[in-house]
Amino acid sequence: MERGNFGTKIGVILATAGSAVGLGNIWRFPYMTGQDGGAAFIIVYLVCVLLLGIPGMIAEFIVGRHGAANAATAYARMGGKRSWAALGFVGALTSLIILGFYSVIAGWCLQYLFASIMGNLSGDAAYVNAYFTKFSSNPVEPLLWTLVFIVLTHLVVVRGVRKGIEKMSNILMPTLFILLLVIVVVSCCLPDAGKGISFLFKPDFSKVTKSVFLDGLGQAFFSLSLGTACLCTYASYFTRQTNLLKSSAQIVSIDTLVAILAGLMIFPAAFSVGVNPDSGPQLIFITLPNVFQQAFSPVLGYIIGILFYALLALAALTSTISMHEIGTSLFFEELHISRSKGAVIETLIAVVIGMLCSLSCGAVDITVFGKSFLNFCDFLTSNILLPLGSFFTCILVGWIAPRKIVKDEFTNWGTVSQGFYGIWLFFIRFISPVCIAVVFLHQMGVL
Ligand code: PHE
Repeated sequence: MERGNFGTKIGVILATAGSAVGLGNIWRFPYMTGQDGGAAFIIVYLVCVLLLGIPGMIAEFIVGRHGAANAATAYARMGGKRSWAALGFVGALTSLIILGFYSVIAGWCLQYLFASIMGNLSGDAAYVNAYFTKFSSNPVEPLLWTLVFIVLTHLVVVRGVRKGIEKMSNILMPTLFILLLVIVVVSCCLPDAGKGISFLFKPDFSKVTKSVFLDGLGQAFFSLSLGTACLCTYASYFTRQTNLLKSSAQIVSIDTLVAILAGLMIFPAAFSVGVNPDSGPQLIFITLPNVFQQAFSPVLGYIIGILFYALLALAALTSTISMHEIGTSLFFEELHISRSKGAVIETLIAVVIGMLCSLSCGAVDITVFGKSFLNFCDFLTSNILLPLGSFFTCILVGWIAPRKIVKDEFTNWGTVSQGFYGIWLFFIRFISPVCIAVVFLHQMGVL
């Protein structure tokens, strides 16, 4: 069976960074930072990204490139036993659930893009608030936008690795970066923007509590797409020349830079108009349209609003593509069907999960363990499945897999990064599993 490959080095970096950069950076990171006290949270997040993100990412890359197959087969090949395939299946399931609820939020971004273009978001704070509540609890509209988003993702993925994923990422990632920079510059030039900048960069260590530390760790996982078999699937398209350490350092840097830029886009504007950035997940849907209107002239506010929601939708698309690819390649190879049939199965399941998540936001009462279905899916994946996936990947690569294979993959058969191998191995065997276990146990309420 013919497998694709990423065609260029830059294609590898942009596609994988495209997976990492998404709503996690532009929606989740700013609201978590706003809630968790600003700079202190960012420092904790950065420490987690450096100490756990890079080693964890390399471990997933090793499993994927060595396996050169979908996540289930790749994990089985690394562990030398078919039972390790379970880890790949769980990863694919995790990303399928994320794809379902993520598409709902991404659909909201499309709706807000549309509403911005039509000028429907202009009004006072109460109007914007009511607009969000009315829209998100409507049974039909958000559902349609969710479907649109899943279908868009499907259309890219069926085109394959090089013509679909790599080509789209090469166009979307630079566009996203330019849009982001434009809004950052405008935002930082507003009166009193300095207050927002110091909120981001001047730490108040009295705010570092246990929960800030754990929130930072969780955010690092979600943002880097760690623990879902997504990085492993993309790495199966890497060539033998891809330098895993260097690539992961580059991808992590891009992801972190985008998160910080997202902060620089949102906080100076919010502080400039005296809006408190601690409104939680609704920050970008309720607080921001209001900020755009108050902070800028009507024409500039109109343009910035459109640019912002376009940016979010693009960033979300490169991430949903990667979530979709995990299941598509798994169905395609494990069931011995065509790639497009594999993509159709993934899409159909994602549509069902997406519909339930969308309806659970107010239109229909779908609750699991007292949470709306969307919140339950978010909780189940971010708080349980991601830490578990990452933990067992560390155990597999650090303790079970043949050391020679791991070393060969890390050093590209003795040609690169030899000096860092020992340190990385120490992290993957000891530091990462212990830290992940602490997060997990805390979130389960044990610690
Ligand atoms: N990392 C993506 C983001 O920040 C989300 C994601 C999670 C993508 C898991 C793929 C797999 O938005």
